[in-house]
Amino acid sequence: MADRDRIPVCAANWKMHKTIHETRDFFNEFLPEIDGITGCEIIIAPPFTALKDACGAVAQAGSAVSIAGQNMHYAEQGAYTGEISPVMLKEAGARYVILGHSERRHIFKEDDSLIARKVRSALDYGMHPVLCIGETLEEREGELTTRILEAQLGGALDNVPPQQIITMILAYEPVWAIGTGKTATPEQAQEAHRFVRNWIESRYDSGIADQIRILYGGSVKLGNIASLMVLPDVDGVLVGGASLEAASFSAIVKGCVQ
Ligand code: 13P
Repeated sequence: MADRDRIPVCAANWKMHKTIHETRDFFNEFLPEIDGITGCEIIIAPPFTALKDACGAVAQAGSAVSIAGQNMHYAEQGAYTGEISPVMLKEAGARYVILGHSERRHIFKEDDSLIARKVRSALDYGMHPVLCIGETLEEREGELTTRILEAQLGGALDNVPPQQIITMILAYEPVWAIGTGKTATPEQAQEAHRFVRNWIESRYDSGIADQIRILYGGSVKLGNIASLMVLPDVDGVLVGGASLEAASFSAIVKGCVQ
């Protein structure tokens, strides 16, 4: 693992997977597996319907695992059929909320200004956003990666002051690596993470840039965790498919602290 002061984060994004029953089964197997592991913050984002049970399982085991929502609306309440508010997420026990995930951006057409409102609202309600950014394959091939990252960061963090940016987590997830089995090479990941950290330094300051945690996401699995965690600007991972099995995700958590 790289020599850094930042506490690594190992986060799971279950997307639209797992019923309440399956969530309970996961925690029954997962929590004993990671019992006693220190030096890594673990975050799990189940679907909305399983949030309360996930929080209950963690609390009952006295575990330090944090629970996250996968998305939220920016309003506290209102006529927004099908949406979940920050107050509802918090009440269910979520400490974090994933915002700007590429599936929200591309499938559900969320743009940077909507994501900015959500980020602002999550912070206002005392939650910690996990802000996802990343380029498509076309953008990478068109050498637009840094321009895209810059636009996504600038858009989403427009109204975020220094004392709040440090409570957030950033996640670089190249769209072409999500669910494809194609991970970014260590060079590509380090280069993008370094760019993001430099951007934070120029927008805020070097102290904040040194503190903020930047996760890598996109086909993370046990086989590539070591090569990612060794990179100086990769502070952890955001895992989709490989987080659905307790054995696989607990092995990845262990890989994050080795
Ligand atoms: P995969 O790990 O399945 O590629 O998904 C990554 C992701 O989108 C996490 O948010």
